Amino acid sequence: MNDLHCIILAAGKGTRMKSDKPKVMALLGGLPLVRHVVNTCEKLNAKTIVTVLADGMDVVAKTVAPHPTAIQEKQLGTGDAAKAALPALKSAQGHVMILLGDVPMVSAETLEALHEAASETGLAVLGMHANNPRGYGRLVVNDDGFVSAIVEDRDCTPEQAEISLVNSGCFCVAADKLEGYLNALQSNNSQKEYYLTDIVAIAAASGVECDYVEAPEYELMGINSRSQLAEAEGELQNRLRAQAMFDGATLIDPMTVYFSLDTKLGRDVVIEPNVFFGPGVTLADNVTIHSFSHLEGVTVEEGASIGPFARIRPYSHIGAKATIGNFVEVNRATVKAGAKSKHVSYLGDAIIGEKANIGAGTVIANYDGFNKQDTVIGKNVFIGSNSTLVAPLTVADGAFIAAGSTITADVPNDALAVARARTVLRDGWANEYRAEKQATKEKK
Ligand code: UD1
Ligand code: MG
Repeated sequence: MNDLHCIILAAGKGTRMKSDKPKVMALLGGLPLVRHVVNTCEKLNAKTIVTVLADGMDVVAKTVAPHPTAIQEKQLGTGDAAKAALPALKSAQGHVMILLGDVPMVSAETLEALHEAASETGLAVLGMHANNPRGYGRLVVNDDGFVSAIVEDRDCTPEQAEISLVNSGCFCVAADKLEGYLNALQSNNSQKEYYLTDIVAIAAASGVECDYVEAPEYELMGINSRSQLAEAEGELQNRLRAQAMFDGATLIDPMTVYFSLDTKLGRDVVIEPNVFFGPGVTLADNVTIHSFSHLEGVTVEEGASIGPFARIRPYSHIGAKATIGNFVEVNRATVKAGAKSKHVSYLGDAIIGEKANIGAGTVIANYDGFNKQDTVIGKNVFIGSNSTLVAPLTVADGAFIAAGSTITADVPNDALAVARARTVLRDGWANEYRAEKQATKEKK
């Protein structure tokens, strides 16, 4: 098929979200809405992917990088926003796809079908049969099966309001016609905006029919409010859960497991109820994630066991058959193969060597109030319970730290480090103490 260029409209105020942040930065499956759309355009091998922003939306520009952006000076509607992208498409050949930053789940396959339809007629729009068409523009289809007009919800006659076939907002247009269509737009509607949807009637007036391609409602949901965001998240999660199980993971109670779009699971992974995967998690085969664990930015190697109640934070790596147990927090740490930290510990900015054993209550003090410092724990090291390891620190291979120690100096290979008060024993002391106390009490 011929060249494809994409415009993503993302400059809207997002008023219905009642947020101080741009709407297209809302997260869906852990990824900003607009980045979903950019990723799909990348899959289509689009020659240009230009996102239209409002002034000051630098955070959106960063999210869509390295792709270019265009600025819409005033938010005068979707048609005006598309116009702002024209300078970025000066010599574009083939077709231009106009997509909405708040319609994130549209698939590359669906957009390919749209491109194909536009290759026949010169103009095509994606539509869906909506369970509840409120808020969407309605597609008015003529006797020849082409779209003759798109009418916004608020501009519908009572008859048009009954139409369930609605506009997704995604168009594909012959590149050489786009500028002419956009320049012909007018703002004589209830919102005094330049509606992109009016290009259908403008094209029809020049003899170009607008075809439509239908896609499932799930793909074309528009996200304008927090409840629509939650609905979309629910749909996406159900699909990610189904995919995880299809790929060979056991989810004991799928509805309580939350994935990110980029979560990668090996075979025979077991995920217990109530587990959350933030972005950047990869689990190898045979990993078990016990209940109430929260993971992000971590690769977990074959056969490791995490949780229950574990928290793993970004830039972490858990080696094969390692164990991270209950109430253990791992932060920017590498825990090597076979190492164990089974209870109530904080492991931050650290490398934990193979088969090291980290006792209950171990805390790596990695922060001095100003900077983070590193800790290296060698292989087969034994850290006794309730130890504090003050970084920067190296505990070399095979060393042994006595329980209750606060370690502030490097420990050599196979050495014992004890840093606590000695135990003092006094035979019979407790009996004497009780007798004395009892006597004083009786005197009163
Ligand atoms: C739009 C469509 C509607 C369709 C629905 C699908 C129009 C006029 N209406 O309505 O037919 O059923 O999407 O979800 O096109 N934007 C700009 N600049 C603006 C206005 C909007 O960049 O001046 C961007 C927004 O950031 C958003 C997208 O365009 O990503 C759609 O805008 P929105 O206000 O959400 O339009 P809808 O009311 O949903
Ligand atoms: Mg919208």
